[in-house]
Amino acid sequence: MRIAVFSTRPYDRRFLEEANGRSGHVLDFIEARLGPGTAPLARGADAVCAFVNDALNRATLAALADAGVGLVALRCAGFNNVDLAAAEALGIRVARVPAYSPHAVAEHTVALILALNRKIHRAYARVREGNFALDGLLGFDLRGRTVGVVGVGKIGIEFARIMRGFGCTLIGADPAPDPEFAAIGGRIVDFPELLRGADIVSLHCPLTPATRHLIDAEAVAAMRPGVMLINTSRGAVVDTKAAIDGLKSGRIGHLGLDVYEEEGDLFFEDLSDQVIRDDVFARLLTFPNVLITGHQAFFTEEAMRAIADTTIANVDGFARTGRALHEVSVDKLA
Ligand code: NAI
Repeated sequence: MRIAVFSTRPYDRRFLEEANGRSGHVLDFIEARLGPGTAPLARGADAVCAFVNDALNRATLAALADAGVGLVALRCAGFNNVDLAAAEALGIRVARVPAYSPHAVAEHTVALILALNRKIHRAYARVREGNFALDGLLGFDLRGRTVGVVGVGKIGIEFARIMRGFGCTLIGADPAPDPEFAAIGGRIVDFPELLRGADIVSLHCPLTPATRHLIDAEAVAAMRPGVMLINTSRGAVVDTKAAIDGLKSGRIGHLGLDVYEEEGDLFFEDLSDQVIRDDVFARLLTFPNVLITGHQAFFTEEAMRAIADTTIANVDGFARTGRALHEVSVDKLA
């Protein structure tokens, strides 16, 4: 099969070429993001391989169908950027990588928590400047703190396991939680109770119409004063303006983000010599108690290898039977 790989970075190329060794598909690597304007670049391809910020809306999908593409193979778990109804209507199958390394994301979540709590980002800069003062670096023991896990799925449960190791009390909110959560001492509560009870709130739910702006002004007001909020799920689960207001009022004591609702114009690019035009993002960067990484939680050797293997397996399945291994369809959005 011919696969047009959009949003390609050198690391995508390396892992996909390795995974494709035995299958022998033809891989066309395209740096551009996939959208209505770039979709015609896929002409002649049987499948496109897309990533988190590619815009697979109706217009893009129509252009892909026109170009002869029959499969969208997402090299990520989330599929909020795909209009599944349009794909179905156009006869395009959509596949994803449902699980690659939940550990990668869970461990990065913990990295954000530890760095924010012990102010590692500030200490690193201070020590390099010869400033060894401790003022402003006061943290807290994680042991005995209550951690609220929003979305107790594959990543949420791994995160919960790690936090249990720190001696934290675990509460979770999820309409269909991993049953393992209770076995490790976690307690499922409703969302308002989680907000009231957690010292650290960590988001691990998918972005759906129901979870868009789940953390809004009302949710921020319901959280414990000084709460630590961590988002490694999808940016739009948090209303960024509400989070900024929460930081200004002190209700949010620490904010750790690996994702941002308008990240499509920023992340995965080197913009270091450009002016950031997103004022909301720029405001976030001014807070000493905010730590942002650019959607890198998934980015480990193990995860990249697993993503590439599953992506190629999806295309192999499609080539053999007309169906990919891990397809998503409209009913998954419910
Ligand atoms: P999963 O499907 O195993 O778990 C998600 C859980 O969220 C499920 O148990 C589901 O019942 C729950 N959920 C759904 N709606 C909810 C709601 N309204 N409130 C609370 N819980 C709700 O998915 P997995 O693999 O754990 O991934 C979670 C999310 O993490 C993905 O959808 C993706 O958006 C994000 N992600 C981020 C990455 C990064 O690099 N930052 C990498 C991989 C995933």
